Amino acid sequence: MTDHAPAYRVHIETFGCQMNEYDTELVRSLLRAEGFTFTEDRDQADVVLMNTCAIREHAHNRVYGHLAELKAVKRRRHLIVGVLGCMAQNLKSDLVENEPVVDILAGPDAYRRLGGLLLDALQAGVRGAAVDLSEYETYQDILPERTEGINAWIAVMRGCDNFCTFCVVPYTRGRERSRDPEGVIREAEHLAGQGYKQVTLLGQNVNSYRFGNWDFARLVTAVADVPGLERVRFTSPHPKDFPPALLDAVAGHPKICKHIHLPVQSGNDRILEMMNRTYTRKEYLALVEEIRRRGDIALTTDIICGFCTETDEEFMDTSRLVEEVGYHAAFIFKYSERKHTIAARKHPDDVPEQVKSERVSRLVERQRGISLNKNQQLVGCSFEALVEGDAKKSSAQWMGRTDNNTTVIWEKSDPLTRPGDLVSIRIVRASAATLFGVEAGSAPA
Ligand code: 5AD
Ligand code: SF4
Repeated sequence: MTDHAPAYRVHIETFGCQMNEYDTELVRSLLRAEGFTFTEDRDQADVVLMNTCAIREHAHNRVYGHLAELKAVKRRRHLIVGVLGCMAQNLKSDLVENEPVVDILAGPDAYRRLGGLLLDALQAGVRGAAVDLSEYETYQDILPERTEGINAWIAVMRGCDNFCTFCVVPYTRGRERSRDPEGVIREAEHLAGQGYKQVTLLGQNVNSYRFGNWDFARLVTAVADVPGLERVRFTSPHPKDFPPALLDAVAGHPKICKHIHLPVQSGNDRILEMMNRTYTRKEYLALVEEIRRRGDIALTTDIICGFCTETDEEFMDTSRLVEEVGYHAAFIFKYSERKHTIAARKHPDDVPEQVKSERVSRLVERQRGISLNKNQQLVGCSFEALVEGDAKKSSAQWMGRTDNNTTVIWEKSDPLTRPGDLVSIRIVRASAATLFGVEAGSAPA
């Protein structure tokens, strides 16, 4: 504890993507160094921070719901409320003017200033905002304070320069910048030393990673070479510039998972162009073909239904692409217009909500069939699963993941098995989202 910060208790709620989870770990580390402590119990907290996501309406509405609850808490007792992350960045004046419940705003590049802002609010009742974006901030010297587990994330770059027209990220997270590879590798070594078995490298577009003569293929290989790590994943690469060297690394390195998340967004060329994705359907499918030639690599994707002016026939192009590729899984979203984006300024959000929802349901249904079919073909095969912990439904079962990221559930049979072990599982049954198996002999990691 420092002189100026009595041990104020902070409760942090995190919304949105893995990058936000990682940022919460950074914030914990920064605040801990300034003398703050943390509590899981909101009722015990002097400060509640919400690390927010602005990518879709849904995430946005959840935050407003929580703010309404906090307003009620604040009527009963003294509490400082802070909004961090993408909503703080995107809605700064809105939040300051229209949400008196919010005391502090801090955008994704301003977390070094958060401790000071909190002390001003706690000790002098001063409201404050830090929402400057930086071209340089990578929090290179901050070791995130991670929660226990077997998986850890490392952000290798921040920001995005792609300006897909639907996306708010370039506005909330600013310009693209890459971290020094030395820091990334040191962090991976530290994680391996702490017993983490799996590391996921994060960036808005990892294929743009550049630092001196390092590119992402070299970085992911160097991380995968760190002794003690069993699996290395990454997310997400952009299909427009997928380098063959990265494919070689995925196909060839035993510790790099055979899974690529390759967001397609749409299967129609006019919509892809309106989205500024800078690839065509044909180019995307050629990349898929190239990936398939390298071996059994699972593909997953993101899709937006009902983007501005999308017709039913154009949506069907997406549906046909989904069939053609045969993804292991797909994250399918309704388009939701975001403030400040190019689409919000230039294109009409003219597909009725009901049509968007109906397209999402049709595609989800289609994908469920494809996933089920793929999973059922695995019955009788054996896979290494990395044990993550108890299954949600029963502590008599383990939950783990295959190399290509499918969830596997099995009855605990070997008393020596522990989270972090690699266990060989024979698949006996499959649903669209989960494989069910039996232990075929365990191999401690
Ligand atoms: N509306 C709907 N989905 C969106 N995504 C990003 N912005 C929007 C938006 N405005 C989706 C994309 C992206 C994923 C992380 O979120 O599919 O790949
Ligand atoms: Fe958003 Fe496109 Fe950047 Fe992904 S690549 S974060 S979708 S702008």
